[in-house]
Amino acid sequence: MDLEALKAKASLEALTRVESGMRLGLGTGSTVAHFLDHLGAALREGRLTDIIGVPTSERTTTSCKELGIPTADLEDHPQLDLGVDGADEVDPSLELIKGLGGALLREKMVAGACQRFVVIADDTKRVTNLFERSPLPVEVVPFAWRAHLPFLRDLGADPTLRTTEDREPYHTDNGNLIIDCRFTPGAQDAHAVARALESRPGVVEHGLFLGMANEAILAAGGGIEVIGR
Ligand code: A5P
Repeated sequence: MDLEALKAKASLEALTRVESGMRLGLGTGSTVAHFLDHLGAALREGRLTDIIGVPTSERTTTSCKELGIPTADLEDHPQLDLGVDGADEVDPSLELIKGLGGALLREKMVAGACQRFVVIADDTKRVTNLFERSPLPVEVVPFAWRAHLPFLRDLGADPTLRTTEDREPYHTDNGNLIIDCRFTPGAQDAHAVARALESRPGVVEHGLFLGMANEAILAAGGGIEVIGR
């Protein structure tokens, strides 16, 4: 089974958690794109009604418009019933790395507002230790961004400024920059890294989503595995 088929399968399973009347946090990325397709179809066919989605990026907002999914701001709906989002890494304790799609700040704000937060992914996102397959995205304000590099190296990271295909600095929906930080898997305590980043002025957010996910739906060729907390 190809990766897109696996993402679609995990998304369809996540749709079974959605009930009419729910306020949903809607993540960002290629896996969530499948979930939005399924959700849009369920709304059009009347299988679900009275859904409002709070998107985590301009990209997801645009997709919702195209698919006829009603949206609102987090300010209007600060408490959400269910969040569905992808991930770049999922470890056995449901700790995550997110943000390769660049939407980590809004994703974390929206996930934090959800009563339940469900991660959907193909099985390639499963890791034994965080930092195994993905760099850790760190969102920083543009001001003096290079000043973070020695600090990040001292933390054990190999930091690189994220750029676009044209080799220009990549800007998030919030106008910030992202420094992707490669860590040696197993060598760092994710909680210590998170604490250090959170106490650093100029760092806006990082892609460690610790203790946030309630459930991960992981699709592999052989079937779906659900990991719950
Ligand atoms: C977006 O910023 C990310 O957190 C995505 O959720 C994550 O990168 C997974 O994306 P894919 O579903 O495209 O792999």
